[in-house]
Amino acid sequence: MTIPPADQRPTALVTGAGAGIGRAFARRLAQDGYRVIAVARDPDRLRTLTARLGPGHEHLAADLATGDGVRRTAELIAGTRVHLLVNNAGTAATGPFTTTPLERAQEMLQLNCHALTALSHAFLARARPGDALLNVSSTLAYAPKPDLAVYSATKAYTTSLTEALWAAHRTSGIRVLAVCPGMTATDSQPHRDAPAALVHTPDQVVTAALRALRRGDRPTAVPGAANRLFALAARILPRRRTLSALARD
Ligand SMILES: NC(=O)c1ccc[n+]([C@@H]2O[C@H](COP(=O)([O-])OP(=O)(O)OC[C@H]3O[C@@H](n4cnc5c(N)ncnc54)[C@H](OP(=O)(O)O)[C@@H]3O)[C@@H](O)[C@H]2O)c1
Repeated sequence: MTIPPADQRPTALVTGAGAGIGRAFARRLAQDGYRVIAVARDPDRLRTLTARLGPGHEHLAADLATGDGVRRTAELIAGTRVHLLVNNAGTAATGPFTTTPLERAQEMLQLNCHALTALSHAFLARARPGDALLNVSSTLAYAPKPDLAVYSATKAYTTSLTEALWAAHRTSGIRVLAVCPGMTATDSQPHRDAPAALVHTPDQVVTAALRALRRGDRPTAVPGAANRLFALAARILPRRRTLSALARD
């Protein structure tokens, strides 16, 4: 599928745009003057979203945990002038490693790592100065939670990959950023039991990410002072202490 250029607006492709942080990205980018291509599985939700964004926005229904979904989305990127790619789609399974079905772990690897890598590759192979890649990671990239072991590892991968890509593109004019949100209230993760002061809105995450992307001077952005403190402590404290603290959490 190739979407013809509908107008003069730059194009932003957002994965996982049907809900949560991805939907907030899609709305904000449309307000900021981007033509948005929204990607997720549920076509009805995407249709409703793009209709609300206004004229010219498009969607692609694709399951990015499958090879077919990744291939169709990568082909779309290859055939369309995309100025900004937001790799936001991600999934998390909470629970003990051995009692969580292996299929859920594999789905996390497929979506959080494989799709993100393939789409980053398709995008950066064609990116021009001024273009930008934004990968959505997590504060758990800095310190793994025992009951989110695979998820935390996928986010460590996301941050590490993005940091390396940032360094590789530093002088090219192509901006690369990993945003590492902490707890963010979305439909799938409402975080109702957490102290309200520690839970961000998707809009707060989007604001912090786009501000850091505009600045372009660092590979990662952690929204919120408490989350930045957590990330800093995780890097400074002995690893065993961080792991023990998160195991008690
Ligand atoms: N919420 C948090 O507390 C938090 C904290 C740190 C990082 N994050 C990260 O932020 C990102 C967004 O999280 P969120 O909480 O906003 O998620 P969410 O509310 O569950 O929304 C996920 C979005 O991704 C789409 N999606 C899910 N599986 C997909 C698949 N296989 N293929 C294509 N699209 C898929 C969903 O739409 P369909 O179901 O229609 O496909 C939906 O649009 C993720 O990478 C997550 O790891 C979240």
